[in-house]
Amino acid sequence: MAEASFTPRVFSGIQPSGGLTLGNYLGAMKRFVEMQDRGEFETIYCMVDLHAITVWQDPEKLRRATRELCAGFIAAGIDPERSILFNQSQVPEHAQLGWIFNCVARMGWMQRMTQFKDKAGKNAQNASLGLFAYPALMAADILAYHATHVPVGEDQKQHLELTRDIAIKFNNDFGVDFFPVTEPVIEGAATRVMSLRDGSKKMSKSDPSDMSRINMTDDADAIAQKIRKARTDPEALPSEAKGLEDRAEARNLVNIYAALADQSVDQVLADVGGKQFSEFKPMLSDLAVAKLSPISGEMARLMEDQTEIDRILGRGAERAQEIAAPILEKTYDIVGMVRSR
Ligand code: AMP
Ligand code: TRP
Repeated sequence: MAEASFTPRVFSGIQPSGGLTLGNYLGAMKRFVEMQDRGEFETIYCMVDLHAITVWQDPEKLRRATRELCAGFIAAGIDPERSILFNQSQVPEHAQLGWIFNCVARMGWMQRMTQFKDKAGKNAQNASLGLFAYPALMAADILAYHATHVPVGEDQKQHLELTRDIAIKFNNDFGVDFFPVTEPVIEGAATRVMSLRDGSKKMSKSDPSDMSRINMTDDADAIAQKIRKARTDPEALPSEAKGLEDRAEARNLVNIYAALADQSVDQVLADVGGKQFSEFKPMLSDLAVAKLSPISGEMARLMEDQTEIDRILGRGAERAQEIAAPILEKTYDIVGMVRSR
């Protein structure tokens, strides 16, 4: 595949299915800002509301979470002029291309998706059909823009492999070189931020325990309290990354520190190696508060002007559609749909 023929373009999405967590910020949003600021890519970021409704969402809460997520993107540093920022349902090409991909992806591929198995749980018969088809819609999100690079957290790796498989199968089935084989970008110290209560579980907005996560809207006291209570072990911190190997909770806190401070884990450990958690935790909470409170303050300020947020989303949707509409038209043409108007 001649990758050079595609414009370097980044696409990523976050579900408006509740508040933003520190995991979303470090694993996704902070890196979205970095890719925007590098200036090497066109950057497109999406609030994936169609993905959110694959599990039940209260309509009013969904509307609010979508606007709050938009405020979060901007507060974190996404510039709605330099990047395209919009919500998925305002650009119907996502759902339209999603249908085509439902007909490209195979049942067997979808059945292997671990996120479906996790989310559907024991009662998979009662899961929505949308939850099963979710990764095909995600492939459509990406490929509707011929995106070449997709920054995500570690948990999305399998979905991006499926996106590549869909692009390859489509190209082969129709004998074209139309969709790019997208590169996942899963980099940095915080591609998998873990729960503060259990170092074997991902930090998640859907965890029943609020103490397990730091929310982007938490105030300084809440952040400090959650870090103070975070599970750890009784040992001092090691001075090299190797010493964190069997210490999931310790590793998680050091990774969070490194990502917030823009340092490598080795740099952090060179400074804090030998310290007890009683000393390291206050350092971590000061750093977290210093980095997060300007963002949460700015989010709250932006949320006061919803008309402006809706204007930004509307304008973003128009710009997104300018890219996606011709790609969808060409896809329909390749597939053999008659287009008579
Ligand atoms: P979601 O909230 O599931 O829509 O996820 C949005 C983005 O945040 C995706 O790129 C995820 O991979 C990333 N993400 C979510 N939770 C975490 C976490 N605990 N650690 C790192 N990245 C995460
Ligand atoms: N599935 C992603 C998540 O839950 C969200 C998502 C939807 C996405 N479409 C995308 C991420 C396209 C990257 C690209 O985290």
